[in-house]
Amino acid sequence: PVYPLYTAPLPIPNDISPKFTVPNSDGSSLDYYEIDIKPVEVQIYPGLNKTKLVGYDGQVPGPTFRMRQGREAVVRFVNHANRANSVHLHGSYSRAPFDGWADDITKPGQYKDYYYPNRQNARTLWYHDHAIDHTAENAYYGQAGFYILSDAQEDALGLPSGKYDLPLSIAAKRYEADGSLWDPEANKETVSVFGDVIHVNGIPWPFHNVEPRKYRLRFLNIGISRSYQLSFESSDAVGTQIPFTVFASDAGLTLNPVQTNDLYISVAERWEVIFDFSKYAGKNITIKNARKVAADDDFAATNQVMKFVVGNTVSDSSNNLPNGLPQNLRSVPFPPTHAPTEYRFKFERSNGQWEINGAVWSQVDQRILAKPPRGAVQKWSLENSSGGWSHPIHIHLVDLQIVSRSGGRGSVMPYEKVALKDVMWLDTNEKIEVVARYAPWDGVYMFHCHNLIHEDHEMLGAFNVTALSD
Ligand code: C2O
Ligand code: CU
Repeated sequence: PVYPLYTAPLPIPNDISPKFTVPNSDGSSLDYYEIDIKPVEVQIYPGLNKTKLVGYDGQVPGPTFRMRQGREAVVRFVNHANRANSVHLHGSYSRAPFDGWADDITKPGQYKDYYYPNRQNARTLWYHDHAIDHTAENAYYGQAGFYILSDAQEDALGLPSGKYDLPLSIAAKRYEADGSLWDPEANKETVSVFGDVIHVNGIPWPFHNVEPRKYRLRFLNIGISRSYQLSFESSDAVGTQIPFTVFASDAGLTLNPVQTNDLYISVAERWEVIFDFSKYAGKNITIKNARKVAADDDFAATNQVMKFVVGNTVSDSSNNLPNGLPQNLRSVPFPPTHAPTEYRFKFERSNGQWEINGAVWSQVDQRILAKPPRGAVQKWSLENSSGGWSHPIHIHLVDLQIVSRSGGRGSVMPYEKVALKDVMWLDTNEKIEVVARYAPWDGVYMFHCHNLIHEDHEMLGAFNVTALSD
C-alpha cells in the first residue's frame, strides 16, 4: 500500500518516571522503574486495519528513559506478550547477568529485574529485545526504545535542549495490503528485511514543525536490516546537501565537532548532530537517504526519511550555541592503537546461514570466540569478504575505536576518527580494525551482526573477559 508522505506528525515518545527512589548510604540513590511488555494496535496506515505490534508499556518505540550519571537504576521488565524476551541496554557496560544474554529469556507471565549502573559518560543508549532466535521479530514488532544518559560535562556545553533536542529513531518495515506487518518469521526470511516503508519514531515519513534555530538531533537506526546515508535538503535548493555538524556517537561526545554533508548510519548506530534551521524560515527541510546504500534493496520512497517544516519565529533562544560548539568537546579515552592484532573475525554466509569464522551460536561449544584478559587493550580485525551485503558489527560491554578501514569505503570517516563506537558498520568487501580496552568487568558477553536477521540466523558469538589472577 502506498503511504502518503509527510502527512503524519512526528511522534516524540514520552519519558518514563521511576515508581520510587531508594536512597543509598553514600548519599546517591537508586531509581526503580517498571515496564510491561504488551501487545498494542496502532493506526499506522490511514484507511487500513490497525497494525498489531508488541511494545514496552505498549508503546512503539518504547518510553524514553532520562538518566543521570551517578544514579543507579533497576528496571523490572514484565512479560505480558505471547513469547519469550530478553532485554539488552545497548551502550551500557552492564554486568553480564543484566546484559540481555540471548538465552536468558523471560517467558510469558514472568519478569526480570535488570540493574543498570549509569556510571558512564553522557550518551544516547537504547534498549531492545535480544531473545534467542527472535530478536529481529521482537524488535521489528516494537520492542525498542531510547535510554538517554546525561552528565555535567555535557550540560556545560549548553546544547539545545527540551523541544530542541529530538530523538529520531529510523526503521524500515514492510506491510501487507490489510495494514498488518509483513512477518519475517512467518515468511521464513533468513537474509534481510530492507523494508520499503521508512518510519521515524514509529510513523512512516512524518513531518515535524521546527523553529528557525539550532536543534540537537539524536539519530538512532532502530530498524533490523537497512543502512542509510543521510543528508539534508531544502525545498528551495533541491539536490544540494546542506552541511551539518556531528558531535556525538554511540559512546557520547566526540573529541571534536565534525562538519559533514552526509552521514552513514547502519543498524543500532547512534550519531548526534546539530542542525541549524535559522536560514530556512518558511521553508521545508527534508532528510534524504542515498540510493543503493551498502547493497540494500531500494524502493520508490526509500530515498526519503522525514520533513521539517520551518516556522518564522523562535520562541526560546536559550541553548542556541551562539558561538557554535567548542573545538574540544571532551577528552575521549581512546585506547592505544598500536596493540598487535589479537583476533581476526570473518563474517560470512555459508550453508544458508551466517557465521563468524565458521562458528554458529547454536553449537554451544563454538560460542566463545575470544578471551581478552580484563583490562587488556586488544585490536580485533573484522572482515566481510562479500560484495552482496554489509554487516553492522556490535561488540557488547566496550567502547571501541575504528583504527582502519580497507577495501569497501577505503577510509575511516572523518566523524568516526574522533569517536568511540559500539557498532561498526562493516561495508561490502571491507575489513576494519578496532581497538578497545576490555573492561571494567569480567564475564561472558556477546558480539554479533546487528542486521538482526543475520543475528537470529547464527551470526552471534561471545567473548569471555577473564579476571586477571592476583
Ligand atoms: Cu543492540 Cu547485542 O545488541
Ligand atoms: Cu550481518
